[in-house]
Amino acid sequence: MANDKVSIHGAWASRWVFILAATGSAVGLGNIWKFPYMTGMYGGGAFVAMYLLCIVLVGVPIMLAETLIGRRGRQSPVNAMKSLALEAGASRHWSLAALVGLVAALLILSFYSVVAGWSLDYIIGMGRGDFRGISAEGAGAAFGGLTSDPWRLTLWHSLFMLVTAIVIGKGVVAGLERSLRIMMPLLFVLLLVLLGYSLTTGHFMQGFDFLFHFDPSKVQDGILAAMGHAFFTLSVGVGSIMVYGSYMPKKASIGSTVIAVGLLDTLVALTAGLALFPIVFAAGLEPGGGPGLMFVTLPIAFGTIAFGQIVGLVFFVLVAIAAWSSSISMLEPAVAYFVERSGRSRALVTGMLALFCWVVGMGTVLSFNIGAEAKFFVFAEDGFHLYQWGAEGGRNFFDSIDYLTSRILLPLGGLAFALFAGWAMNREAVRDELAIKSPLLFNLLYWLVRVVAPVGVLIVFIAELSK
Ligand code: PFF
Repeated sequence: MANDKVSIHGAWASRWVFILAATGSAVGLGNIWKFPYMTGMYGGGAFVAMYLLCIVLVGVPIMLAETLIGRRGRQSPVNAMKSLALEAGASRHWSLAALVGLVAALLILSFYSVVAGWSLDYIIGMGRGDFRGISAEGAGAAFGGLTSDPWRLTLWHSLFMLVTAIVIGKGVVAGLERSLRIMMPLLFVLLLVLLGYSLTTGHFMQGFDFLFHFDPSKVQDGILAAMGHAFFTLSVGVGSIMVYGSYMPKKASIGSTVIAVGLLDTLVALTAGLALFPIVFAAGLEPGGGPGLMFVTLPIAFGTIAFGQIVGLVFFVLVAIAAWSSSISMLEPAVAYFVERSGRSRALVTGMLALFCWVVGMGTVLSFNIGAEAKFFVFAEDGFHLYQWGAEGGRNFFDSIDYLTSRILLPLGGLAFALFAGWAMNREAVRDELAIKSPLLFNLLYWLVRVVAPVGVLIVFIAELSK
C-alpha cells in the first residue's frame, strides 16, 4: 500500500534536511560534555568499544524504528502510533509509549536548558579573559560561583529556553529548517578548528591512545553506562527522531539515512574526544574529572595553553550551538501533539510548553544551591521516602530527573518503539516503508529491530534495576 500522507506541520525540503535535523538533535551536550567525561571516568578505550557496540546493535535499530513509524504515520508520535496501531489491528494503547516519551523529552529539556545555560556564561567568561592563567582552585571556585548563584543560573536558563522556543514557534520550515542549515555547518567548522588546534599541542597521540587503548579489565564497569549513553546521544526513546521522521520526504531511503546520522553522531563524539583530551594532557591535567571536565578542567587547560582564550571561546560557542539544535528536538514532539489535539496556534502551544519546561527547570537551578538538600527517592534505614529534606542518600532534583529519564524512560521508550515496529506493525508495512531492495539486508535490519535491540535493552535495564 503506497503511503502519500503529508504532515500538517510541514515537510523537510529533502532527505539532507532530515539528516541535518536528526544529526542536530543527536549531536549535543551528550557528545561534547558527557562522552569525553564518561570516557575519562570509565577508563578510556574499553568504554568507547562498549559504546560503539551499543550504538550499532541497539541505538541505530531503534532510530530506524522511530523514523519509519514517524514517516508512515505523518503525525506527532502519539497520533502516528495510534493510527498505525489501528491500521495493523493492534491496541491503540501503544501510543502511551509516545505519550511517556513526550513527557520524558520535556523533562530532559528542563535540565538540559540549565546546563546549556552554563555554556552561555562561559562564553562571556572566556571572552572577558577570566580564565587566563587560572589555577585549579580558581577554576573550581569559578564554576562553584556560577552554580551557587540562583539568579545567574535563572538568567541563562531563561535565555536558552527562550531561543529554543523561538525556533520551534516559527515552525518546521521557517524555524527549524532555516536555523539548522546555518547551525550545523558552523558546528562542524568549529569542531574542525578545535581538532586542528589539538593536533598542534604535541599531545595528540596521548589523547588518541587514551580513547582507543582497549583494556578488557575495564569492560564490566562501563557497559551499563555505555548503553544509557547510546540512547541519550542518539536522542532515541522519546519520539524526537520519530517526529523528525514524520517530516521526511517519501522517496528518501530510511535505512541509509539513519545509518548516516548514527555515523555522524559517533564521529562527532570521537572527534570531540580527540580534540579535547590532547588539550587536557597538554595542560598536564588528568582526564578523569567527571562532569566537571568541561567546566572546570578544560578552562584550566584553556587558561594555560597558547591561544587558549580564543580556542576556549570557540569551544563554548560550539557547545551552545550543539545544545540548541538538540533542545529544539525535545520540544517538537509535544508541540506537534498539542497543536493536533487542540487546534491552537503553534506559537501559543510552544509558549505554554516552554513555560512548563522553564518552571520544572527551576527545580534544577535550585538543586545546585538553596535546594541542594531536597532529596528524592531516598532509601533510608526506616524505609523508602519519595522526598526528604537533608537526607543522607537519595538524589537531588537534577540528578533525579536525569536518572529517571536517561536510565528508565529512554530505554523503556526505545524498547516500546522497537517492539511496535518489529511486532505490532505488519511486516509488509515495514517493508514498504523501508523500501530496501536486498532481502538479505532487509531481514538483517528487521531482525535487529525485532530481536537484538529489545533483548539488548532488557538485559541492561534489568541489570540496572537490580544493582
Ligand atoms: N542527543 C542529545 C545529546 O547528545 O546531547 C540529547 C537529547 C536530545 C536527548 C534530544 C533526547 C532528545 F530527545
